[in-house]
Amino acid sequence: GIVVIDYGSQYNQLITRRIRDFGIYSELMPNTITAAEIKEINPKGIILSGGPNSVYDKDAFTIDQEIYKLGIPILGICYGMQLMSYNLGGDVESADNREYGKADIEVTDDSTVLFNGLPKNQFVWMSHGDLVRKAPEGFKVVATSKNAPISSIANDEKKMYGIQFHAEVRNTEFGLDILKKFAFDVCGAEANWSMDDFIDQQIEKIRAEVGDKKVLLALSGGVDSSVVGVLLHKAIGTQLTSIFVDHGLLRKNEADQVMESLEGKFGLNIIKVDAQKRFLDKLDGVTDPERKRKIIGNEFIQVFNDEASKLEGIDFLAQGTLYTDVIESGTSTAQTIKSHHNVGGLPEDMHFKLIEPLRTLFKDETRELGEKLGIPHDLVWRQPFPGPGLGIRVIGAVTQEKLEIVRDSDWILRDEIKKAGLEEDIWQYFTVLPGIRSVGVMGDGRTYDYTVGIRAVTSIDGMTADFAKIPWDVLQKISVRIVNEVDHVNRIVYDITSKPPATIEWE
Ligand code: XMP
Repeated sequence: GIVVIDYGSQYNQLITRRIRDFGIYSELMPNTITAAEIKEINPKGIILSGGPNSVYDKDAFTIDQEIYKLGIPILGICYGMQLMSYNLGGDVESADNREYGKADIEVTDDSTVLFNGLPKNQFVWMSHGDLVRKAPEGFKVVATSKNAPISSIANDEKKMYGIQFHAEVRNTEFGLDILKKFAFDVCGAEANWSMDDFIDQQIEKIRAEVGDKKVLLALSGGVDSSVVGVLLHKAIGTQLTSIFVDHGLLRKNEADQVMESLEGKFGLNIIKVDAQKRFLDKLDGVTDPERKRKIIGNEFIQVFNDEASKLEGIDFLAQGTLYTDVIESGTSTAQTIKSHHNVGGLPEDMHFKLIEPLRTLFKDETRELGEKLGIPHDLVWRQPFPGPGLGIRVIGAVTQEKLEIVRDSDWILRDEIKKAGLEEDIWQYFTVLPGIRSVGVMGDGRTYDYTVGIRAVTSIDGMTADFAKIPWDVLQKISVRIVNEVDHVNRIVYDITSKPPATIEWE
C-alpha cells in the first residue's frame, strides 16, 4: 500500500481516501514514524501530507531523515514538499501573501511522470503560507504559477516529487490523475484492495482485541452506529450488547424505526433507554453550543455507565466515530473546529476502552461498508444525523416546545424532499430554529412567532459543502406546509451559505 505521513492538514485523510478509491490500501501514519517502522510496513510509496506549520517553526513537525534513503518513492504535498525541499538542501521562504484558493499552474516539463500527458495549463487548489524558492539539487522544476514559481519539483531518478498544491481536493482539476500517476506509474502499486478486505481486516482486528470480553455499543439511530452494530455483531455475535438511548433529541418516529430494523432484521440485542427527561434537565437554560455538545456527550456516557453497571463484565464501548469527527475535534494533528460529541465529551473517569472501527472512514465509505454488510438501502442512505441531534438544531436554550417545532418542521421537510425525488441528490437537509420571532399576519390577525431555517447541502463527505439548489416550487411547498402545520411558526428562511465559511449545522 501507500503510507501517508500526517503533518496536520485538514485534507490529509482525503489523500488516503483517494488512494483507497484506486483500490490501493493506504493508511495515515503519525509523523513520528521511523524509517525502521516504514521498512517493516514495506509500502510501495510514501506521501508527505500538507500541514499548517512552517518548516522553520520551532516545533515544526519533521521526518526521520533516514526515510529519504529507503529508496521508496515519495510525493510531498504542500508542507510535505516544503519539508522535503528543506531537508534535501533547497530553500523555503514565507510567501509575500498567503495563497488560498484556485490557482492556475503551467506545466513546464511534462517528461516527468506526474504530469505526463496532462494539459499544460491546469487549475489547482493552493493553500499555503510558505513556498519553495530553490529546488534541492537533483530536482527540476516541472510546474509554475504566478504566486508559486516552483509549484512542482521532480527527481525522476530518486522517484521523489513535490507539489505545492493539493491534488487530493476536488478543486484541483487533474488532482486524481496526478495521484494515480504517482501511485501506479511511479510506485508501481496494484489495485487489489477493496471494502471486502476492510471488513475482513476489521473483523479480525475486533476479534483479536475483544477476545472473549463483552462490548457495549452506543446506538444512535444514525448510519454510523448502525454499521458499527452490524459489523460487531458479525464479528462477535452475542458478546455485543447495544444500548439505544432515546435522548429526546431524535427525529420523528426515529426510535421505532431503529428498533424495528436492527433488532428485528439483524437480531442485535438492544436495550432501549428512555432518557428524555435526564437530557432536558441537564440542558435547561444552557445556550453555548460547545457546552450543549459536551453536556449531551457526557450525559450519553453517563447513561451508558448506568446501564452498563447493570450488566456483567463489559470492558469495551463501541462507537460510530468517523474520520470527520476525529479530525474536526482536533484529536489528530489538525486544529479544533467543533467538539463532536463522540470524541470531545468523554468524561475522564470513563470506565470503558473504546472501539471505533470507522475511525478511518468517511461517510460515503461507511455507506459502502453498510451495503456490503447487507444493511437495507434505506437505512444506509439515511442522511447523516449528528449525535447531539435536534439539541443543536434548536439554537440556544433547548425546550420541549422548541424541540417539537424542529421535529415537526424537519419531518415535513423530509417528506417533501422525498416526494420531489430529491433524497439522494441532497446530502443532508434539516430545519433549525434560530429562536428569533418576527411579525406576521395570518387571517386577520397579527402573529409574533418563530422563524424556521431550512438547511440543505450537497457534499461528498461533510468536510466541505455547497448549499443545495432546491427548486423554488419545492421550497414553496415546504414553506407553506411548515407554516400551516407547525404551531408557532410564521416565517421560513433558506440558508444559502456553503462550508466553508459556514458549517453544515448551525451549532
Ligand atoms: P458541520 O456542522 O461540522 O457538520 O459542518 C459536518 C457533519 O457532521 C455532522 N455532525 C456530527 N456528527 N456528532 C456526529 O456524529 C456530532 O457531534 C456532530 N456534529 C455535526 C453534521 O450533521 C454534518 O453531517
